[in-house]
Amino acid sequence: MQLARDTLASILRRIEEVNHFNDIDTILDKILYEARQISHADAGSIFVIEDQSLRFGYVHNETLFKENEANEEIYANFSLPIDDHSLVGYAASKGQTLVIDDAYRIPADRPYMFNPDYDKKSGYTTRSILTIPLKTFHDRLVGVMQLINAKDEKGRIVPFSPESRELVPLFANTAAVAIDRGVMNRELILRMVKMAELRDVNETGPHVQRVGAYAAEIYQQWAIGRRVERQEMKRQKDLIRLAAMLHDVGKVGIPDKILKKPGKLAASEYDVIKWHTVYGGRLFANQTSGLDRMSMEIALNHHERWSGGGYPGKIKNIMSPRVKMGIPKRFEEIPLSARIVALADVFDALSSTRSYKPPWTDERVFETIRSDSGRQFDPEVVAAFFQIIPVIKAIRERFPG
Ligand code: C2E
Ligand code: SIN
Ligand code: SIN
Ligand code: FE
Ligand code: FE
Repeated sequence: MQLARDTLASILRRIEEVNHFNDIDTILDKILYEARQISHADAGSIFVIEDQSLRFGYVHNETLFKENEANEEIYANFSLPIDDHSLVGYAASKGQTLVIDDAYRIPADRPYMFNPDYDKKSGYTTRSILTIPLKTFHDRLVGVMQLINAKDEKGRIVPFSPESRELVPLFANTAAVAIDRGVMNRELILRMVKMAELRDVNETGPHVQRVGAYAAEIYQQWAIGRRVERQEMKRQKDLIRLAAMLHDVGKVGIPDKILKKPGKLAASEYDVIKWHTVYGGRLFANQTSGLDRMSMEIALNHHERWSGGGYPGKIKNIMSPRVKMGIPKRFEEIPLSARIVALADVFDALSSTRSYKPPWTDERVFETIRSDSGRQFDPEVVAAFFQIIPVIKAIRERFPG
């Protein structure tokens, strides 16, 4: 009895942990982490229902890549059908947990098959598998979690224990609710962005998803370099992805005539566009949550330049109707979150088509960023960016268009 009570308390604690996060990616990351702790699994992945199929959402693999390090595999771009052929599809279509002791010895009379492609490509060996449908308390399926290679105390791969088979599904119910919340938050933000997009053809869903993901990964790399404590790093990473997606919502306040102008802007028109930073900042000025606070930092400061010369500069009260552009901020006067988004936004603008420019080659983009390091951009942020180029490229492929 005592054991059961302790176990339940620990599961509740793990649920608490998951509920601290806002963004779907950090939520999936956290769910996998906690589920792997419960079951001592070496690896795992989560698929989330999207358009009636199972979209790959997140992956952990302790053997192949270090936890908390930049990793392009989490941005893999594929879906599986909800049918009986794959393990994940079967768990989804039957709403049933699958327990497999050896992936390579599934009896031939089963409708599902283990797909060895990933093992072949990576050199990993999958053995024990626990595949769990993620259903909310109303029995609605939101995704599937797959845990791989349970380990005993000596680190040997073993079948998933009866205890794990009980406890992980218990945790999974609550995980499903958190996933729902994460998906809703992301959609809510994309809808806000869409309002701005109606005004600005450049401010599309994929653009802001890329900028959000670039910012999150650059931040993580920066934080690893600074030895930021793990919990703090996750918390900031969670916030910066969503807040970065909102960097340009202030463009809703800019007249169409200017925002939608094809080709180069006149200096006077450019002066009008600069106000999108202040308008954006005002949207989050009440600062009721950490997310508001960071959204405000980013919206207001993402066009400041590291060594000065950016906009809108120091402003006492952005709510005042008589505000003027101030003296440009410099160096650490610019919040870290905004220094990161400044780079993410420009990288994306340069490598994409704009009404006023064609996409640049990677070579030209990287050269420009390198030569602007220490001028337009914080050199430490630029260094973090160049350490994760494969991840940056995976993000670009994950959110095309
Ligand atoms: P955006 O298109 O999202 O561009 C974001 C930032 O990327 C720009 O901030 C700038 O720092 C950088 N960037 C974009 N294109 C280039 C380029 O060809 N060369 C260089 N060196 N940097 C580039 P910025 O300049 O403050 O502009 C803010 C926003 O104002 C832009 O957002 C865009 O919506 C608008 N904008 C800027 N210039 C023009 C223009 O000539 N024509 C039009 N139609 N819009 C412009
Ligand atoms: C940090 O300092 O850990 C990041 C917070 C921020 O973006 O200001
Ligand atoms: C760089 O210029 O450092 C990045 C080159 C690349 O990996 O594509
Ligand atoms: Fe902007
Ligand atoms: Fe932008």
